[in-house]
Amino acid sequence: MNTAVKIAGVEFQNPIMEASGTFGSGQEYSEFVDLNSLGAVVTKGVANVPWPGNPTPRIAEVSSGMLNAIGLQNPGVEVFCKRDLEFLKQFPNTKVLVNVCGHSTEEYIEVVDRLAGENRVDMLEINISCPNVKAGGITFGTDPKNVEAITKEMKKHAKQPVIMKLSPNVTDIKEVAKAAEAGGADGISLINTLTGMKIDVERQDFVLANKTGGMSGPAVHPIAVRMVYECANTVSIPIIGMGGISTWEDAVEMMLAGATAISVGTANFYNPTATTDILAGLKEYMKRKQINDVNDIIGIVK
Ligand SMILES: Cc1cc2nc3c(=O)[nH]c(=O)nc-3n(C[C@H](O)[C@H](O)[C@H](O)COP(=O)(O)O)c2cc1C
Repeated sequence: MNTAVKIAGVEFQNPIMEASGTFGSGQEYSEFVDLNSLGAVVTKGVANVPWPGNPTPRIAEVSSGMLNAIGLQNPGVEVFCKRDLEFLKQFPNTKVLVNVCGHSTEEYIEVVDRLAGENRVDMLEINISCPNVKAGGITFGTDPKNVEAITKEMKKHAKQPVIMKLSPNVTDIKEVAKAAEAGGADGISLINTLTGMKIDVERQDFVLANKTGGMSGPAVHPIAVRMVYECANTVSIPIIGMGGISTWEDAVEMMLAGATAISVGTANFYNPTATTDILAGLKEYMKRKQINDVNDIIGIVK
């Protein structure tokens, strides 16, 4: 039975990854999950310098999901390389995707340049849902022209394949996917979180200090499946699908819709072994359905 998938020439032993920002850089989860058994570890967003993140409270539970406004808190690329990349060297079977964030194109470039010489980094995932300071705080990922331009810049500098991570907070995700492809992206990943809000009726105030937060978890899954399906039928670059995946059925659904690999996010918070449970479920499904190669289920529902 073959569970390996390939994206931009990089072979993953299986299509199961975890989603950026929900798994640290793996260390915190390594007592629950054998990191060597995952397709890839996807790191928390890494910036050129440390980011403190937003004021608290910055997490809230909602029906079948959560809101977060962490604000991309991270220790910066230097600490990341010395501490987190070093740690990940113990798990040679697992690929490493580094999620990159920045306030400006220059900041993204600084991180991508710094990572160019790091051979433990197999792929870059560029989070274009970060606030673009120069464009007045709107995110890079909502304007197709910006997406094409930043993708081209990333490709100019990157030594590893580049996956552009798309925001679902747009009218037509297909246009953004096309822009990433036109800019030379090696793949796209989606969805990032959907902007939401929660108000405390007793305090009559916002629950999050940031007022709004990114919604994730099982409630967003059908939206994510729809968007992955639309992109898979629009572009020819591979897709890493995510959004509310918490069971093997959710993962298979995403692959049937067109994802070559999938990421598990919020589910890790309430089930730390969600990734390996999903991998076991996928293998059982393949056995039961007599599917010899996992690649045979990618995008077959048209
Ligand atoms: C607490 C938290 C932190 C996140 N941090 C990042 C991040 O640093 N970079 C990024 O691209 N996405 C980040 N995300 C988005 C997830 O990677 C994922 O795209 C999204 O949550 C949808 O998947 P899920 O419903 O399985 O969580 C974060 C999500 C959560 C819940």
